[in-house]
Order: sequence, then structure tokens, then C-alpha cells
Amino acid sequence: MEYKLSSQLAINKTDTDCIIVAVYEDNTLSPAASEIDKQSNQAISTFLETGDFTAKLKQVDVLYAVNNMAASRIMLVGCGKQDKFNLKKLNTATQAAISAIKSSNIATATTYLADELDDKASAVQQSIISTATELYQFDQHKSQKSDDIVFNTLNFAFSDTANADIETAIQQGKAIAQGMSLAKDLANTPANICTPSYLADKAQELAENYPAISTEILEEADAEALGMGAFLSVGRGSEQPSKMIVMQYQGAADDVAPIALVGKGITFDTGGISIKPSAAMDEMKYDMGGAASVFGTMQACAEMQLPINVVAVVASAENMPSSKATKPGDIVTSMSGQTIEILNTDAEGRLVVCDALTYVDKFKPDAIIDIATLTGACIIALGHHISGLMANDDKLAEEILAAGKAINDQAWQLPITEDYQNQLKSNFADIPNIGNDRSAGTITAACFLSRFVEDKKWAHLDIAGTAWRSGANKGATGRPVPLLSQLLINRASELD
Ligand code: BES
Ligand code: MN
Ligand code: ZN
Repeated sequence: MEYKLSSQLAINKTDTDCIIVAVYEDNTLSPAASEIDKQSNQAISTFLETGDFTAKLKQVDVLYAVNNMAASRIMLVGCGKQDKFNLKKLNTATQAAISAIKSSNIATATTYLADELDDKASAVQQSIISTATELYQFDQHKSQKSDDIVFNTLNFAFSDTANADIETAIQQGKAIAQGMSLAKDLANTPANICTPSYLADKAQELAENYPAISTEILEEADAEALGMGAFLSVGRGSEQPSKMIVMQYQGAADDVAPIALVGKGITFDTGGISIKPSAAMDEMKYDMGGAASVFGTMQACAEMQLPINVVAVVASAENMPSSKATKPGDIVTSMSGQTIEILNTDAEGRLVVCDALTYVDKFKPDAIIDIATLTGACIIALGHHISGLMANDDKLAEEILAAGKAINDQAWQLPITEDYQNQLKSNFADIPNIGNDRSAGTITAACFLSRFVEDKKWAHLDIAGTAWRSGANKGATGRPVPLLSQLLINRASELD
């Protein structure tokens, strides 16, 4: 798929299979729609007079053989009320347009939808993410592949001559969309293929494809030598060896402190001896969604060649029951030296992440962000729309919230105050791996992690609700690659 800045001719001379324009409720035309209307002897307003098209958000209609237009189709996209139009609605409107296009014979289209927002650069970036999301397919394991999509080029056009920002926005939008696609591919891949070793191979591949990325794999023996007893306890019951995957992206001088990304990479979570109920257990192949988002973000960062340093640690294991598996009540010693009483082997994510948090300190990061499908409780709290955010530093939390908002991949902060910390008490070890009761499960999980970062700037994203969709449209979402990529873009522009 190609995304380009339209080398703008007059709208009536734009030679494309389809021009996409916004129409708002109450027959309000966008500037581009209005221009077409004028040039075409009121083709659009005449059509609107029929009352068939009310411009509700997502409504799409196509006009053919429009007077005086070089383009063979004019696609009207309903954008709702004009004063309510924003980035989120642009996303919805774009997906509706692309959904219509992908079942048509349209190869090239020129869109004016991004012209409807003041911030053209983020509108373009969002349009590319929405388009790629709509076009994404994962049919590797189907004998009957999806029909080929004819659509191959989306041009962005603006009423005013666009500036240099747009070219950058296109490059970045593409990089983020590709990063999301990588994250989705990894997460959608079933756990009999996507094992910790598979993820380790993918990390090596990233290093081969991008000179700025280097990869190192810590094997179980290395983890043993480092004292990662919490991490190793999770994979004990599995035939699949655990892997601690370390990737470094160098885009700035050696002495620039990196930002650290830590991903939970449980390639399948049965719950272990504290086994999960069988309903929807297949979805636990997505329990490496945090890791997948770290891979996607690293790739996006390398594609964008951001002038920053990033270190990524993906803690990958398979959580299985067996005679060798960790049992409830077992006590392990983490790399930090703290002992952990494992009261529930299904609270395994925090066990792999905590040792990665300790390990990543050796890179002297400026800040650490971990990303994990950590708690079912987060879905109860925030549903599937917004990721949970917990942090020990308000500035870092603000930075993450702002990045998420700017790119329509939102997070919402939950507290991790002393009261919640007190829910973590063990009679037999320094800390239990679950809270003393079921309340505030997302927060007590974060409180557990906070014990492993002490005085370092740290934030935790619980993406249990946002990393994938269930039901008829089951599949990975590629979140929070956009949020993380935007955060890195913002950091890079501050360093400039
Ligand atoms: N991977 C799960 C969290 C999860 C559950 C994500 C459902 C998405 C959907 C995690 O390892 C887990 O099992 N957490 C437990 C923690 C509990 C034992 C304290 C949970 O949420 O039930
Ligand atoms: Mn679990
Ligand atoms: Zn899990």
C-alpha cells in the first residue's frame, strides 16, 4: 500500500479512481465537496436533495460519472455533525470509506478527509493507521485466502498547498501502521508456532533488517546466572525454553540515556497449576500482546529513524501445568533479591516482568515503561476502549496520557497509593504475587511491579482489554503501538 501527498491539480482534473470527500449532517458540504458541487453543476447537492444520504457518521455513497470530473467516482463520506468532527471520528469515517473501497475495483483514491481537521499532520497519520487497520488481513493459516484487494494507493489532498509536515506525517503514519501490523501478526500467530523461541528469532530478524537495532537473547542458563528466579519460575512447567529478549535501538549518541520498554511475552497462559477455566482460553495466545507491541514499536522507531535510544526487554515464557510446574505456595527469589510467595500461578505476568524491570536498570534508562496484558480486572475497570496506566512519576504519566490522546490510542491513569500497597502481604516471603483480596486487582498488580523499580521513573500499561478483540471480529489490535510510537516521536522532537 502506497500513501502519498497528492501533487495537487485542480479537483476537477484529479485523475484518480475515486475522490473521497466529507459531508456533514444538515447537507453541510466540506470545502472539497463544495468545490466539486460548484464544478459539477451541483451534482452533490442535487443528490443530497433526494434525502437518501443524511451524512450520519460512517454513511458512504458513491456518485459515478459526475459532470466535469476527471475522477471516475466521487465518494461521499458521512462525518456526522461538523462541529463534533475530531480525530476519533476521522478514524471511523476513514475506516468506513476504506471498507467500501476494499470491496470495489478502486486502485487509487485521493482523500480530502484529513483536510477537515486543523492539525493536518496528525489527521494524515491517523488516516494511514485507520486505512491500514481496515486493510489488515491474517489468512496465513487458511487454505482459502481472502480475495485480493485492488486498492493500492491513497493520496492525501488539501485545499491549501500543504507543507513539509505532511511528508513527515506520511512517513511516520506508515511506520506506525507497519509496526501495528507486525504486532498483530505476532499476536495472532497461534501459540504452537509463536513460542518464546519464535519471538527470539523475530527479534534477531529485526536486528538483521535494521542496522540501528541489535538483539541479544538471554537463555534460561543466563537468566539462572543472573538470579532471575521469578522469571524462570513461570516457564518451569513448559517444554518450551523461556527467553529474555533484549533489543537495543541506537539513534542517538552513546551517552544519551535510553527509554526502556519492557513487554510481557507469555506466549500462552493456561494459568499453570492455578489453571484457568476452559472458556475462551484460546485467547490466552494473546498474552504476549505487550511483547508484540514492543516489537512493533521498535520496528516503527527504526523505520522513522528517530534520533533517540531505546532499549527493549521482552520477558517470554509459556505458562503450563506439569509435574515440574511452579505450585501455589512456592517461594522464589527474584533478581532484585526480594523473595516472592507465588500464591496463584495464574498471576505469572508480573513474575516475568519484575525480573525484566530489574534487569533493564543496567542500561541506566531515563524512564521505564512496561506493557502487559496483566489483569482481567483491567477489562472490568476500563473495558476494551482504554488501556490502564499506573506510574510512580506524574510527569511520565502525563507524557504517556498526552501521547495516547494525540494519536487516538488512549490510556487512563489509576492510582497506586500506599493503601493499595498494603494489600500485598505474605506470611512466608517478602511479597506475595497477588493481593490479599480480589479488590483492585489491576492496581495491586501494578503495586507488585512498583516494588522492582524503586527510585526509577516507571510507568505500567495494562493492555488486557485493548490488545485484542473477542467475538466475531476476534483479532489483535496492534495497540498500544500508536501510543508508544507517538511517545517516542515526542521525545525525539524534544531532543532536537
Ligand atoms: N493474562 C492474564 C490476564 C488476562 C485475563 C488478560 C483475561 C486478558 C483477559 C493474567 O496472567 C492473569 O491470569 N491474571 C489474573 C490475576 C489474578 C490471578 C490475581 C487475573 O486477572 O485473573
Ligand atoms: Mn495468568
Ligand atoms: Zn497472563
